Amino acid sequence: MTNYLITGGAGFIGSALIRYLSGFQDVNIVNIDKLTYAGNLEALKSVEYKENYKFLKFDICNQSKMEDVFETFKPDIVYHLAAETHVDRSINNPTNFLNTNVFGTASLLSAALSYWNKLSGSKKDRFRFISVSTDEVYGSIEENNFFDEKSPYMPNSPYAASKASSDHLIRAWNKTYELPTIITNCSNNYGSFQYPEKLIPLIIINAINYIKLPVYGDGKQIRDWLHVSDHVDALIKISKKGVVGDKYNIGGNVQIANLEVVHKICDILDNSSLEKTNIKSFKDLIAFVDDRPGHDRRYAINFNKIKNDIGWSPSILFDQGLFDTVNWYIDNKSWWHRKFQNTKYF
Ligand SMILES: NC(=O)c1ccc[n+]([C@@H]2O[C@H](COP(=O)([O-])OP(=O)(O)OC[C@H]3O[C@@H](n4cnc5c(N)ncnc54)[C@H](O)[C@@H]3O)[C@@H](O)[C@H]2O)c1
Repeated sequence: MTNYLITGGAGFIGSALIRYLSGFQDVNIVNIDKLTYAGNLEALKSVEYKENYKFLKFDICNQSKMEDVFETFKPDIVYHLAAETHVDRSINNPTNFLNTNVFGTASLLSAALSYWNKLSGSKKDRFRFISVSTDEVYGSIEENNFFDEKSPYMPNSPYAASKASSDHLIRAWNKTYELPTIITNCSNNYGSFQYPEKLIPLIIINAINYIKLPVYGDGKQIRDWLHVSDHVDALIKISKKGVVGDKYNIGGNVQIANLEVVHKICDILDNSSLEKTNIKSFKDLIAFVDDRPGHDRRYAINFNKIKNDIGWSPSILFDQGLFDTVNWYIDNKSWWHRKFQNTKYF
């Protein structure tokens, strides 16, 4: 049996990881999530009655609770995903980001260390603390260049700075205390069950509701998109083959300007069964808005290390993944409508 402790499992990526892992007989999963506005247990409806899955509503900042969880559950693999994740919110309220992403990570690391120090034999050897981070820690990169694992950290938003701090703590707990940690730095994810403040679900849901599609600045900011299922696959492979103390970049090999992403979504919707009430194309709803302060211009990931050392590459083509994602939001209105009906999407 392998015991997985997953933090932030009610979020977008964490819930995809749990849905995947829960399909295996030889695993136990505990999901630690505070259920912030971004946490949604409805993304876990398909697993909530499984015997190998348990949800605990805890804050990772509560170190003594985290110590109890480690002692009780005895994890082999920790996937740390709990975080405040939306850049705009970090600009308006950085404190939450420092609390969870910095102090929360430190509290979790301390709890993990006190548990791991008491282990022995193969249980101790196989323990891994895998922390899921972002390419945003590297800042913005010029055209034709790519971030690799040796790129300097140059975070530009409070979110990116808090994740960079988290990465530094993960590294320090490995170098100082030899806790077997691994850091992953992944590009922008997309797919089903993503909270609709992020670009792709925001645009889809606004369009379905015939409200404006806000595009920051000139819309030429480039992001490297990865389907969440490919990310889950990378995280599983890293738990098996990743080198302790190391870090891995994970990218989608798809660098596309935000405006082009919005156009692609509109093309899919134009060809869907949705009625075009008072518009010729969903592109008519596009509205350029003031750019985000400190907005990074371009992200692009060199993922040669995980490709060569671990044998992972992205498998889902962006156009197909986007088509499926748009249709998922059309077909699952009840999922996002119940949760988000009181939220303004623009
Ligand atoms: N979404 C992306 O494109 C992307 C890309 C690269 C890396 N990441 C990283 O992956 C991780 C998961 O991202 P996501 O998009 O699934 O985020 P999300 O915002 O969808 O989910 C975050 C989850 O963490 C929980 N949480 C927040 N604070 C907590 C706390 N103090 N204690 C316990 N739980 C808490 C929330 O309730 C939520 O369920 C984050 O660490 C993020 O930085 C995300």
